[in-house]
Amino acid sequence: MRTRPDGRTEPALPTGEEKTRRVRSMFDAIAPRYDLVNRVMTLGLDQGWRRATVSGLGLAPGSLVLDLACGTGDLSALARRAGLRTLGADLSWGMLAANHRGGPLVQCDAAQLPVTSASIDGLVCGYGLRNFTDLAGSMAEAARVLRPGGRLALLEVAAPPSGALRAGHRLWFEHVVPFLGGVLSDRDAYHYLPRSTAYLPDEVALRQLLLDVGFSGVGRRLLAGGLSQLLVATRSGLPDGALGRSAT
Ligand SMILES: C[S@@+](CC[C@H](N)C(=O)[O-])C[C@H]1O[C@@H](n2cnc3c(N)ncnc32)[C@H](O)[C@@H]1O
Repeated sequence: MRTRPDGRTEPALPTGEEKTRRVRSMFDAIAPRYDLVNRVMTLGLDQGWRRATVSGLGLAPGSLVLDLACGTGDLSALARRAGLRTLGADLSWGMLAANHRGGPLVQCDAAQLPVTSASIDGLVCGYGLRNFTDLAGSMAEAARVLRPGGRLALLEVAAPPSGALRAGHRLWFEHVVPFLGGVLSDRDAYHYLPRSTAYLPDEVALRQLLLDVGFSGVGRRLLAGGLSQLLVATRSGLPDGALGRSAT
């Protein structure tokens, strides 16, 4: 148990099947107002971060991109606007039901993708990593479905490295977001959001994980001074400079 700043106690973060079950039912519950809360709690910055994620792929129009943990489909929509073809995958039926952005969708766990090996040109994942029960298994699946030379772009929460922005972010993320989430959507879900960052490996561990499962050229960029982070990498298997359909 942990005591919250408001004095209420909360249980330890779930793991294993219990985490999968709780994460799925939480996203089922918040799906109808998910986009609205996102825009409000990021003051509209989130779509710019998703645009950076799609362009971080550096893929040519017509390339096939898997939007892993696609949710309501914001990344897929931006990818299609950039001329890419998309397939969306998510654990939550509620999020998929709220996804009206078009394109094929599949319900599955990120650690078991119903996708042929080496059949995908690019993979994006927006704010999904810390929700996965098996992060290493999910990244291994990402590597399996990407063709050699295929591109990966992972968008996640972060914290500004230091200074006033860090303090302001902490106040916003740990207090204002749960309050706004409670008013607009589901109080417990948006209390869980800041806590769920505890599942996220640090930069070094995340880089090593990607290298271990078969990616190379791992790069990381902080967005808006560290409010979010973008990791990009290339599926190993082709010599540098032989990236097939890549536009970069
Ligand atoms: C914070 S939302 C992000 C949605 C969307 N990518 C975006 O950028 O707004 C996280 C998503 O991850 C999905 N998710 C959580 N665990 C998952 C898993 N094990 N496999 C696939 N999707 C998962 C949730 O259902 C939810 O839609």
